[in-house]
Amino acid sequence: MDIAAIDRAKEHFGKLLEAQMKRMEKVKASPDWIDYSKISPLKIGILAGDGIGVTIAAQSKRVLEFLLQDEVKAGKVVITDIEGLTIENRAAHGCAIPADVLAEIRKYPITLKGPTTTPRKGDPWPNIESCNVAVRKELDLFANVRPVRIPKQGIDWIFFRENTEDLYALGSNGIDVDADISIDFKLITGPGSDRICRLAFENAKKNGRKRVTCVTKANVVKTTDGRFLENFYRIAKEYPGIEADDWYIDIMTAKLVDEKRRRDFQVLVLPNLYGDILTDEAAEFQGGVGTAGSANIGKQYAMFEAIHGSAPRMVTEGRAQYADPCSMIRAAAMLLNHIGYADKGKNLEMALDITGQYEKKMLITGRATGVTGAAFTDYVMDWVKNPKLEQTWEGYVKG
Ligand code: IPM
Ligand code: MG
Repeated sequence: MDIAAIDRAKEHFGKLLEAQMKRMEKVKASPDWIDYSKISPLKIGILAGDGIGVTIAAQSKRVLEFLLQDEVKAGKVVITDIEGLTIENRAAHGCAIPADVLAEIRKYPITLKGPTTTPRKGDPWPNIESCNVAVRKELDLFANVRPVRIPKQGIDWIFFRENTEDLYALGSNGIDVDADISIDFKLITGPGSDRICRLAFENAKKNGRKRVTCVTKANVVKTTDGRFLENFYRIAKEYPGIEADDWYIDIMTAKLVDEKRRRDFQVLVLPNLYGDILTDEAAEFQGGVGTAGSANIGKQYAMFEAIHGSAPRMVTEGRAQYADPCSMIRAAAMLLNHIGYADKGKNLEMALDITGQYEKKMLITGRATGVTGAAFTDYVMDWVKNPKLEQTWEGYVKG
């Protein structure tokens, strides 16, 4: 037995624990929620990302500038580009977020971020950590909120994916112990699960949703998922009017496809990796990951983005202009909601539901067989300028 290898692994593990204990102290001492209404001007930073990110972030920025034009004129809101989060620049610095870019990001309580390329083993890029994951950790954006709406089918789900822990927290800190054994670490903490579960219940309470469902694999992953689930039920007791139940990730993945049962789910809360996987599945029913936006929420910062990657192949094949900007425009709608412009956010969401799911006049195929992202965005903006009917899906469909 290679005792030296065991000792190296113990030392490695000890260092990880030290860092996590320090993180816990910070989390427990973190300041309370920022109040956007008290910040003037509110600075919104646009991070274009790379790959198709550049194209679709530009379309989303156009919508945001249009909807916030009065606030920008009045000096209440400032929208600025933040440069440097490209894969080229990150690779040149050999890190997930170059220090100067991170310092710049920290000046913006709100950011809208285009997809960024995540290198993996075998890529031409150095195998640096995903910058999504790094930004979420750096700004302590603990909640990844991902709505999926299909009004036609009565589906209105909102996923609360924990965003700073689980297999992601130490995903770049695993260890090859010896020639045979590799280990990664899964981390769940009490404060980390409490705050995401609480946010899910608060959302249900605020929006009159009657059920919150926790998704884990606590029958097998007993310690970490077990803790998450236990904390979920403890927090649930604080919300007596809301039904709390839990499912394992395997059967939940199946139930999302069950047309008889799936519209019963409302708010779902789950650890990071299950949330990553389940939200891609959920988005597929809505029209694909290209249609889904997400909000990364922390107490001091919030970052809004697409749920998908940067599709570099679309760029090399010269198809970037046909990329679907819907995900990034949905992210802009969530941004508007989050900073206190709920009416504008709702109007934009309706425009996307109706143009994308009902009218389907402006079909995006990712190729020259469909419309460009810019043409689609023009159309959405026209709809937003003249919302034609009542601001409900039912109202629209009935005519
Ligand atoms: C997402 C993405 C990221 C994740 C990748 C790009 C690291 O899939 O936002 O869901 O796994 O979180
Ligand atoms: Mg994902």
